[in-house]
Amino acid sequence: MEDQMIKEILVSEEQIKKRVKELGEQITKDYQGKEPVVVGILKGAVVFLSDLIREIKIPIHIDFMAVSSYGKSSISTGEVRIIKDLDFSVEEKDIIIVEDIIDTGLTLGYLKELLVKRGADSVKICTLLDKPERRKININVDYIGFTIPDEFIIGYGLDYNEKYRNYPFVAALKEEYYK
Ligand code: IMP
Ligand code: MG
Repeated sequence: MEDQMIKEILVSEEQIKKRVKELGEQITKDYQGKEPVVVGILKGAVVFLSDLIREIKIPIHIDFMAVSSYGKSSISTGEVRIIKDLDFSVEEKDIIIVEDIIDTGLTLGYLKELLVKRGADSVKICTLLDKPERRKININVDYIGFTIPDEFIIGYGLDYNEKYRNYPFVAALKEEYYK
């Protein structure tokens, strides 16, 4: 499945499996007696979410949102356009936002605030990957799969021009392909 555009595999299929199980166990502990709503951010989080929820051993609900950034004007505010909103109300619910990667943090900063404003009881963030070097706002991330260097990442849900989402590992692309 390897490809000439791939520079390096950063996280193997086995490493992902092990870490996702640990995150599921942690969430199971933290939410004892609760029934959280796991909110996946389309499309990148789909692969991670589908594996993660099977490692959570308490009752949960799932819902999805699709967003896109407004382009240049969003750089300062982080305001995002909602392409697909949640199907259910978050009022008085415990929400776990599941994301593929946190880069600048603007998308999740905006979404977290939005769900709090809509009346959620609690909003936590669970991301497969964290690229802290690129952060533009201070955002508290509750569950992190792997911290990775500032490279362009594909695989396990993450895409480059909509390709590579189905790769079972996380890899860095060669710079000449995205720079
Ligand atoms: P943020 O608002 O900058 O944190 O944007 C996060 C979003 O940008 C993620 O949900 C991804 O869709 C996308 N993204 C950021 N870095 C990468 C990457 O290295 N590969 C693929 N998508 C990325
Ligand atoms: Mg995304």
